[in-house]
Amino acid sequence: MTTTPKPLVIGNWKMNLDYVEAVHLGQQLGVMLKNKPAEHTDIVVVPPFVDIRSMTSIIESERIAMDVGAQHVSAYDNGAYTGEISTTMLKRLNVQWVLVGHSERRAMYDMTDEVVLSTLQAVVRSGLKVVLCVGEALSVREANEQNDFVTQQLKSALEGLDEKFHELVTVAYEPIWAIGTGLTASSDQVGAMTIHLRSVLAQLSLGAARVLYGGSVNGENAATLLGEGGVDGFLVGGASLKAESFMSIIQTCDDCYDVKR
Ligand code: 13P
Repeated sequence: MTTTPKPLVIGNWKMNLDYVEAVHLGQQLGVMLKNKPAEHTDIVVVPPFVDIRSMTSIIESERIAMDVGAQHVSAYDNGAYTGEISTTMLKRLNVQWVLVGHSERRAMYDMTDEVVLSTLQAVVRSGLKVVLCVGEALSVREANEQNDFVTQQLKSALEGLDEKFHELVTVAYEPIWAIGTGLTASSDQVGAMTIHLRSVLAQLSLGAARVLYGGSVNGENAATLLGEGGVDGFLVGGASLKAESFMSIIQTCDDCYDVKR
């Protein structure tokens, strides 16, 4: 028996791939996973809203072992919120996960800690799983204040969260300076941060939550980040847009889990 949680690999497509391209990628992933199933790894794809229906249809019809997530959701249940999508709408489409507090939304769409909190609350109240994204800018890292920075992000979103929602929470550490830059955090940096995040999560009685790393992850660096960085998986951007590169990260997680057990 093992207490190691199953690795989790999430592909955040961001604003890439229209629904035709999404169907193509979904089919490719389906074939690859049928040929070489990822027996120990949970897989989630997080497409743009307009691709969600296509993805859930393919996954259901082809019986692909993969969940679908959303990149954003409204904190409100319904009403006059032009351009927004509710948790109820996502659930009707069989979405199971939602990213909350991605640094791109925090930076470009005024997602304050208060909005992160209310969105996270709406997600878990609806029974959806949440991936809370945290991570510091380069200036914060250069001032060596990254630990305090992410502590504050974690606490403002998770302190006081009703215990019944704890199992719905995953945390993704995504240093802003490593996102889409090709500049991966070193396994030492990820390892130190993972230990820190787990200790803060334990203080919040969330010690069982999976901790992911995101930021220029690819098939080459995944094994080291997983082994030495001590994370439970990855939140992948660019490398999730191609079936081969996404699959190579998934296979790495699967193989590492086999070795660890
Ligand atoms: P990249 O893997 O492209 O750096 O993106 C990471 C990310 O932001 C995933 O949410």
